[in-house]
Amino acid sequence: MKKERKGRVEGKMAFVTGGAQGLGKASAIMLAREGAKVTLADINEKGAAEVAAEINEECPGMAFAVGLDVTREDHWKDALAEADKAMGGINVLFNNAGIGGGTTIEDTDFETFKKVQAVDVDSVFLGCKYAIPYMVPHAPGSIINTSSIAGLIAGHNMAAYNAAKAGVWLLSKSVALHCAKRGYRIRSNSIHPTFIDTPILDGMARGMSKEELVRKLAKQVPLGIVGEPDDVAYCVLYLASDESKFITGAEIKIDGGISAM
Ligand code: NAI
Repeated sequence: MKKERKGRVEGKMAFVTGGAQGLGKASAIMLAREGAKVTLADINEKGAAEVAAEINEECPGMAFAVGLDVTREDHWKDALAEADKAMGGINVLFNNAGIGGGTTIEDTDFETFKKVQAVDVDSVFLGCKYAIPYMVPHAPGSIINTSSIAGLIAGHNMAAYNAAKAGVWLLSKSVALHCAKRGYRIRSNSIHPTFIDTPILDGMARGMSKEELVRKLAKQVPLGIVGEPDDVAYCVLYLASDESKFITGAEIKIDGGISAM
């Protein structure tokens, strides 16, 4: 008997921040291909709408876009309400939007430090806080927060980024324990990529071509390559799906072995 294959996240409703490009875009495409509705939320609303249109070409009616500055509490309230209405609920939250911040403690001015905390960790606080009430009636649910390998391992020139991404790591565990204690059937985990070839790497180029930069970064990775966006998207797909139903409060490294050294 031939059984029709069901998508791995069939029927899920996912809210993806930073969905206009990079890891958010790749993950949203994969989630939609595997049967989820997705709302792409980004400060770049036009970019998010373009990605939604691209997804809808392949998977009609599965993607929506909404403007969101993840540092703004009022934006979160509006964007989640809009996504809830558009998709008929929310049960996956991918807190992915983020910015880099590559300087030392002495070279980082306070405004920059605060900006990196706002975009990279305040966003996760606000996202979890305001999405959970939408997710509870549609459980089982999954929250996936993007930290970084830089949330676990420090660098001499990553003061603001290390601080923010380390915050995301333990905040994700606190959320996991809270949801478990309340019996919400909502899981929360953090993911920790190292260098993945997305536009965020442009900020690290400092006069080098992208090819040179990628070659240089690859030398730091035991596997000898930088990652592709789909390397992260496959992990997001797994965590969003019920395949990972016993995994909460965990951190998953997607780092080609860097942290094993
Ligand atoms: P990216 O720069 O390609 O995309 C980031 C997206 O976030 C963009 O669409 C941007 O418009 C959006 N965004 C920025 N500020 C925002 C705000 N205030 N409100 C709403 N949206 C905002 O970056 P990429 O590589 O896709 O990174 C995604 C996440 O992965 C970030 O949290 C980053 O720190 C993390 N990460 C990336 C790694 C990499 O090598 N690409 C490695 C480790 C972590």
